[in-house]
Amino acid sequence: MKALILSGGKGTRLRPLTYSGAKQLVPVANRPILFYCIDNIVRAGIRDIGIIISPETGAEIRETVGSGSRWKAKITYILQDTPAGLAHAVKTASKFLKNSPFVMYLGDNLIGRDIKKFVEDFGRKKADAMILLKEVDNPRQFGVAEVGRRGNIIRLIEKPEDPPSNLALVGVYLFSPMIHKAVDRIKPSRRGELEITDAIQELILMGRPVKSFVLDSWWLDTGKKDDLLTANAIVLDEWCRNGIEGTVDRASKVLGRVMLSPHSVVKGSTIRGPVVIGDNTVIENSFIGPHTSIGDDVRIINSSVEHSVILNGSEVLNIERVEESLIGKRVKIFRNNGHKAFRLMVGDDSVVEV
Ligand code: TTP
Repeated sequence: MKALILSGGKGTRLRPLTYSGAKQLVPVANRPILFYCIDNIVRAGIRDIGIIISPETGAEIRETVGSGSRWKAKITYILQDTPAGLAHAVKTASKFLKNSPFVMYLGDNLIGRDIKKFVEDFGRKKADAMILLKEVDNPRQFGVAEVGRRGNIIRLIEKPEDPPSNLALVGVYLFSPMIHKAVDRIKPSRRGELEITDAIQELILMGRPVKSFVLDSWWLDTGKKDDLLTANAIVLDEWCRNGIEGTVDRASKVLGRVMLSPHSVVKGSTIRGPVVIGDNTVIENSFIGPHTSIGDDVRIINSSVEHSVILNGSEVLNIERVEESLIGKRVKIFRNNGHKAFRLMVGDDSVVEV
């Protein structure tokens, strides 16, 4: 069994962060989303992993993930020259996949459970595709599956007006090599992409068995800001432990589970976990509230921040309250008490809510 992680794409929903970096590398609890995908694949016993990359962000992904040795896995990078769809990514990876069955994992999805059982079930059921599904409240916003009595997929519909079920497609799929035949038979969709849902539908038309597996844990597509903040909160809740390696002065209070990296300093501040703070970061005269992840080389002075993600090299100075915010790299947010007006220099597609 091999794995194919899709880490190309455009990432339009996470602009402006995705102008300067890959969305799969945006951190959740200070670790790139993509790392959680690799963890999960390796935990299922799969160590031969292909990662689809784009010309724009491929180098950054290679550099961050490396050879796979830290997971004792072998990683092959596969360049997809344009983001022409998930089935196009499968086609692009056909030399790597050869005749092997594989798990296809979208590199921006986080799930709260191992995929091991799902992979084992695929082996047992001898299907040509198995799709991970999750019950959702708002199926109209997702790809939805109509499922028969024994878990076989009858039909897949993208963002249906009248959903036949509340079972949405999570971004994890298992395929036998038969999927390549189905991909070869489909045409680009109205949005010009080779859709994996069309390829799976084609398998069904070819009379091949397509099964489902319903996920009983949380699942988050981290494509948008609020989803990313939710993912950050859930992962911090589950994973954050006590780990103060940096310096906390006597005037500070640390409550709950807080991880502070060795060269970081907390002065005259209160940190209420779960919170993770990276390296070389300074928190001074501030409050850091629950569900906050702060990267490396960050300065937070005379401010209050909660339920937020702040990436490396940013500064928050003299801001009374920052909440539910996703702040990119090397951003500076400060209050200048001499001025009544906001004076902003904000990049393209940014959102400023005051
Ligand atoms: P999407 O989130 O569907 O697409 P996107 O990355 O273009 O994002 P947005 O909608 O914000 O513009 O993609 C799901 C995952 O698959 C994501 O990790 C990117 C990856 N992907 C590829 O690797 N190749 C592709 O051709 C496409 C469409 C996506």
